[in-house]
Formats: sequence, structure tokens, C-alpha cells
Amino acid sequence: MLYIGIDLGTSAVKLLLVDEKGTIHAEVSKEYPVFYPQSGWSEQNPEDWLRAVIDGVKELTNDVDKEKIVGIGCGGQMHGLVVLDENDNVIRPAILWNDGRTQNQVEYLNNVIGKDKLTEYTANIAFAGFTAPKILWVKENEPDNFAKIAKIMLPKDYINYILTGVHSCDYSDASGMLLLDVENKCWSEQMCEICSVKAEQLPSLFESYDVIGTLKTEIAKELNLSENVKVVAGAGDNAAAAIGTGTVGSGKCNISLGTSGTIFISSENFGVDKFNALHSFAHADGRYHLMGCMLSAASCNKWFMEDILGSGDYAGVQQAITDEKLGRNSVYFLPYLMGERSPINDTNARATFTGMTMDTTRADMLQAVFEGVAFAIRDSFEVAKSLGIGISRSNICGGGAKSALWKKIMANVLGIELDLLKTEQGPGYGGAILAMVGCGEFESVDEACTELIEVADTVKPDEELTALYEKKYNNFKKIYPALKNFFKESE
Ligand code: XUL
Repeated sequence: MLYIGIDLGTSAVKLLLVDEKGTIHAEVSKEYPVFYPQSGWSEQNPEDWLRAVIDGVKELTNDVDKEKIVGIGCGGQMHGLVVLDENDNVIRPAILWNDGRTQNQVEYLNNVIGKDKLTEYTANIAFAGFTAPKILWVKENEPDNFAKIAKIMLPKDYINYILTGVHSCDYSDASGMLLLDVENKCWSEQMCEICSVKAEQLPSLFESYDVIGTLKTEIAKELNLSENVKVVAGAGDNAAAAIGTGTVGSGKCNISLGTSGTIFISSENFGVDKFNALHSFAHADGRYHLMGCMLSAASCNKWFMEDILGSGDYAGVQQAITDEKLGRNSVYFLPYLMGERSPINDTNARATFTGMTMDTTRADMLQAVFEGVAFAIRDSFEVAKSLGIGISRSNICGGGAKSALWKKIMANVLGIELDLLKTEQGPGYGGAILAMVGCGEFESVDEACTELIEVADTVKPDEELTALYEKKYNNFKKIYPALKNFFKESE
């Protein structure tokens, strides 16, 4: 049997065709634009995602026996607000997870409603990228659009809706809306009231591996697939990546270096970060997780290489960063190109380089970019440690994990071993695994992960280099507090 795993990312959708043994038969990637209508805002057209998915599925399945394709599972960028009117037309572009426009709504939720109440209702406080503040923003700034809303959905659920006609959401992705009572896995009536959301506007809730439906007749025809192909609810991309890397059960960790950078800690039980820095969300394995999310990770590398250096020669510039330079860089980079979520929750924060001298090279600056992202992941790692969570090793995935240099820096900044999986395609592979479980190929997500996930390589930290990076991290930690007010005042 064959399964389609979809990773609906921010820069592109990546699709995989996988068999029940976990072998990947085909891969396709299709890009789409991100729009930045104002500084700190980011939007995409749901229709662009849909076109890319439809074209991608056709290309992916071109040369295979279509009868063998039985299931589809999607992991998608989280938190994005997609709104449809009563005729199922998209009302306005989707407001994405890294959009910072909702500062006033976040302040209202966290300070007027109050962090204690939000935590009681949802297990989380408000962050600018979460969906609920965006709903309030539309209500306050675009009342005509707000009045038209018939359905509220997240990015991958828009795709699932077009494929099946079922308005659904899984618990992992729903957790990031700030409308879900995460512990009890139901919509929070209080939060819906606070955000003027009606129950009928919200999707039905499912576990990630539950089948929500089968392909609609016209879609099956267009894709040239059987109407019996099952679609599972899928997951937020981080939970899907965790499945795709076998980060399930108690106390496992996955670091994802995609457009965003995340540290994901799976847990047997529900728990809340008392510092409100890490998100407390449901996991796609049916349990829970804690997660820290930085808004710009691999995107810092892309920005520096392509927009600043005007170069596509990633490997060439990295080559100049030799081993003896690691831990000895005098340049620092604060990676807040889109403001920052975890752990500082500051939409005004901005990126900055510091420490350059006349002999600083572009390689030194790129090294600072890699190190800055690693230090910012370490910030969330430290929060987890302060909660008593011991992490001695982690999986790592995402585009940034393709760089051996970046992985080495990451392992030494965190002082832990990093496992690289045989299949690097975290969210897409996770989506395919969820489809396999939904179609009965495996009893549970745990069983599927045990059968299918294999470690290919481990990066071990070096004692001397870890000590050098410890000093550098202590310097890095001083940069944001020194600039925090400047960022606010120069807004
Ligand atoms: C997680 C988050 C990002 C997006 C990226 O909370 O906002 O990781 O899911 O696609």
C-alpha cells in the first residue's frame, strides 16, 4: 500500500509517497509566495497552498499504480488564521504563525483577561502568532470581513476540507489556536466568548490519526485517485515532525530547524510551563508535549545568504568556517528577524549583529547566524531544564539540519547528542505515518514509530568546544536585555 504525507510549510509544500515499510517512493516540493504587507506582518493565499498541493499530488503519483494509494496525512504550519464565508470562499489572505500585528490583542488577552485565566482555560497564554488574537484583530480592524466568517480553520485543515468536505481539526494543531482546553481536549467556552467565536464556526475535533473522511468525487477525479482514499486529521507541523522522528511517549526531544526553530518535548502526561515560556499542547500520538518556538531559524540563513550576500552558494560560504573557528567567534547575531516568540514573547524584538571589527569576514557573520539560532534554541532548552526536564539527547530535523556545521554548533551549544534519522523529512513522513495508523496498517502511532524510524547518525558534543560555547552563550544572553527598551522605543 502507498500513503501520501504532506508537509504544508511556509516556503513550500513538500509531498512524500511512502509504503508501509517506510520506504519513500517519490518526493515533490512546490513553492509559493509569502507576503509581508507591513513590517512584522506575514500572509499567504490559501488558494496558493491548494494549487501547490493539487499539482504536487499529481506529479507525485504520476508513475505509480494509483490503486495502491490508500491514505493521506498532512502536517501543516500552525496557528494561521483561514476564514471562509458561507459559500466557502476565502475571505482574506491567511494571517501566518510568524505575523506580529496582534500586539494590542495579545496585551488585552494577557493583561486584561489575564494570564492566569488564559492558562486555566487553555493551558497557555497569548502569543502574537496564535490564532485567537488574530480573530480579535480581524474583529477590530476588518469588521466587514469578521461579519462574513462562517468557518474558522488552520492551514492544513483548509486542505483537508477541500479534499474531503469535512471541517476538521486535530488536537495538536487546535492547541495553538488558544481556543482549546488542551487538558480536556474540547473547545473552551470561555475563550470562544472572549473572542466572539460561535461553536458552529469551529471545526470538529479529532485525534491526528483519526480518519476524517474520504476524497470528494470531484477531487478524486481531478487527482485521478480512488474516492476511497482516506484522509486523516493530520497534525501541526511540529507534532507531525515529532511523529516522523519518533519523538513519542515520555521525555523525548526533537529540534526542528525549519523556517521556525522549535524544541519539542513529548510527554506522557499533561503539564503546564509555570513560566509561560513554553507552549503546553496536545501531541499527535494522543498524549501531550511542551514546545518552545523561535520565529526565525533556517530563515535567518536564507535571509543572510540570499538577501544580504546575494549568494546561493551555501556550502561555499560555510566551507570557510573551519573547526578551529568554532567557539571563538567575536561576532554575535540576535536572530529576531520577525520579533520573537519563545521564550521572550516580544513582537518588537529585532535582529542585530554585534562585535564586528575590520577583519570580520562574511563567513564570521554566517557563523554568528548559525550560533545565534543555536543560542536562541538554548534559551528554550534552559526553560525546560528549569522545569526539571532533563534532556541528554534529541532528534534533529528540518532544512537547517542538512548542514553538518550547523548540527555540530547546535550539539555543542546545547551540550547534548543529536540523532539524525534515516528519513529527514519530519512533518511529511509524520503525516504519512499518521495515515498508515488511520488506515489500520499499525495499531498505534507508537508501534508505527518503533517499526519505521531508524537513527542514521549521531552528532556528539566535544567537551572543550561545549565549554567555549558556554562562555559565548553567557555573552549572548546579555544582548537582548541590553536592547529590549531600544527595540520598544524605536518601534
Ligand atoms: C509553532 C510555530 C511554527 C510553525 C511553522 O508554534 O508557530 O513552528 O508551525 O510552520
